[in-house]
Amino acid sequence: MYALAALPGPYLPWSAGAMRPAGLVTVCNDIVLNGRRRIVELGSGVSTVLLARLLTQRPPPDGFLMAAVEHDAHWAGWVGEQLDREGTRSNVTIVQAPLMPHPRTEPGLRWYDEAALTDGLREALRGDPIDLLVVDGPPAYAAGHGLARYPALPVLADRLAPGGTVVLDDVERPGEQEILRRWEAETGLGFERRAERGGVAVARVPADCSGTGHG
Ligand SMILES: C[S@@+](CC[C@H](N)C(=O)[O-])C[C@H]1O[C@@H](n2cnc3c(N)ncnc32)[C@H](O)[C@@H]1O
Repeated sequence: MYALAALPGPYLPWSAGAMRPAGLVTVCNDIVLNGRRRIVELGSGVSTVLLARLLTQRPPPDGFLMAAVEHDAHWAGWVGEQLDREGTRSNVTIVQAPLMPHPRTEPGLRWYDEAALTDGLREALRGDPIDLLVVDGPPAYAAGHGLARYPALPVLADRLAPGGTVVLDDVERPGEQEILRRWEAETGLGFERRAERGGVAVARVPADCSGTGHG
């Protein structure tokens, strides 16, 4: 929270659904230290508002584009209004994609409407590859929903930039741990899991690789 005090603004309704401050600092550090400029977040909220503050406060020299994917239209509206109020919306797109059955999810689980998501991302990032992917949605806390976020890498791996970063939140949960095991086996990425990082695991795409080769 002390580090995030450098991103001041109106009060935000931080709740248990939001990334923890240490996790968000990990993401902010990657943006600042590695000059991230094509950022995608699955699951919007307080994190979107704070990342937009950071990117507006110290934009990369050649600018940035950020897309936050959100399934809940009401919540997407709240996040968008907050960005408008703070004057940080100009390079941030909220991509609305409802949840629906997806071939990569377990039976009974839903993921984002893939067509809405990929069309929205293509437009928001103007076709550029993603150099920072933050996976914090869809909601996965309910019993039986532990693998709800699994499709993120199978769907987006080929859009990751060489040298890019992938962040998964809530990795203390069994579902996210199983997702990490699957992602590592399927893509060859190695995720760092550090307790002091506020529940996020982080992987770097090799610099000499286009996408992760996930089929
Ligand atoms: C894990 S949350 C995403 C949180 C977001 N990345 C953050 O750190 O603020 C997953 C979903 O829960 C919903 N959500 C997030 N924050 C919320 C809040 N404070 N109140 C209601 N719904 C919220 C949104 O639909 C979001 O896509």
